[in-house]
Amino acid sequence: MIARPIHALLAGFKLTTLYRPRGNMPRNNEMTARSRRAVWHPCTQMKLHERHLPLVPLARGEGVWLYDFEGRRYLDAISSWWVNLFGHCNPRIARAIVSQLDTLEHAILAGFTHEPVVELSERLAARSGLSHCHFASDGSSAVEIALKMSFHYWRNVGRDDKTGFVCLEGSYHGETAGALSVTDVGLFRDVYDPLLNKVMRSPSPDWRNAHPGEDARTAARRAALALEAHLAASHETTAAVIVEPLVQCSGGMAMHDPEYLRLVRAACDRHAVHLIADEIAVGFGRTGTFLACDQADIRPDLLCLSKGITGGFLPLSVVLAGDEIYSAFYHDEIARGFLHSHSYSGNPLACRAALAVLDIFDDENVLAVNRDKSTRLSALAQEIARHRAVRHFRNTGMIWAFDIDSADPLAGRRFYLEALATGLLLRPLGNTVYFMPPYVIEEEHMRLLVDGTLSALEAALRV
Ligand SMILES: Cc1ncc(COP(=O)(O)O)c(C=O)c1O
Repeated sequence: MIARPIHALLAGFKLTTLYRPRGNMPRNNEMTARSRRAVWHPCTQMKLHERHLPLVPLARGEGVWLYDFEGRRYLDAISSWWVNLFGHCNPRIARAIVSQLDTLEHAILAGFTHEPVVELSERLAARSGLSHCHFASDGSSAVEIALKMSFHYWRNVGRDDKTGFVCLEGSYHGETAGALSVTDVGLFRDVYDPLLNKVMRSPSPDWRNAHPGEDARTAARRAALALEAHLAASHETTAAVIVEPLVQCSGGMAMHDPEYLRLVRAACDRHAVHLIADEIAVGFGRTGTFLACDQADIRPDLLCLSKGITGGFLPLSVVLAGDEIYSAFYHDEIARGFLHSHSYSGNPLACRAALAVLDIFDDENVLAVNRDKSTRLSALAQEIARHRAVRHFRNTGMIWAFDIDSADPLAGRRFYLEALATGLLLRPLGNTVYFMPPYVIEEEHMRLLVDGTLSALEAALRV
């Protein structure tokens, strides 16, 4: 059994623990001072940025690189929180947005429609097999929509008792109240617990939970059996199960066998419970197929997409639903409709960026090219996998991760600073280091990434 991961870069940090990496660190400048005065940065303790973790002032980005004002560059090996698929300032996506700027920048989507939102909905439906798209602006809102849609569907078909949700141990689905209710990361969730809905947590299929002698598939089957047992007992009151297919990302890059998804799909069908696939982090080719669910050959009832959808240019998210769910809302009675909205729903600029992303997938054979890149980086990373302080080196598609074998919870934090000093943007989750590079990563960048990771690891362990 693995230890529960600490999850966030900042967990356990004490302001007394000042660590200075050996390399050349970004320096606080006027912009970072203004930023600390005016910007409340996400997912951080602001006081840390006074001395312990310098903010990095960015001048520009290009391809895999982010540049500061003093000529330093950082290889963005986490695609800026997993959104940037085709490099910073990708010219093709930029041109698509610019061309849309002269036509229609934004319009209310209630009662009106436009070409980019229609074409994007049609193309996403064709890729997912789910007929209707409901748009929002970020991942958490998409999760809220999926939860509400499932609940409301059951009411519309006369099942007022189906109000419960099941999530997985170590799950992460976002920070808004509904999404946080189905999130199992204590650092983000615990303080807000009194505000949140009670949900059931089912064991994670994470292959690191395999018992001695078990393989990943057997571990997946065991986790699916636990879920099956819960649904057998509670299906009358359960609306949906929500999963992050193949990789539970924020919960420590926990990877599982596709068998889990097949078994969960079958259990949900048997017990008349919706399956919500949150592919916000893993969709758009990240696990090697366009959707992670494709590897299990299953279709969820509700599918959430965001992050890579615009290649990291503009905020956009979408929930896809099939005909059965859609038609339960299609009625003469207004209140049976899904009266949920966001001001920027289906924003034309964001939809145009998403269409450019789909064009790149279609024209540039991205999935096949990524398969070669994945093999190449995995081969180069063997030295990391063999390192004495590395446990559970793992890979799914364009995601790589390993756990630093150290009892010191601050090892990941030191690694972050050391990596930054060598020109790598890597942001460990506790002591789990991961790579989620932009798909435009080339062999020369891979070498820098592997060499930089090895030297940052050595330095982080040498305290
Ligand atoms: C699987 C998953 N779901 C939902 C979210 C929330 O997305 P957002 O940060 O855009 O609200 C994330 C963000 O990391 C995620 O990884």
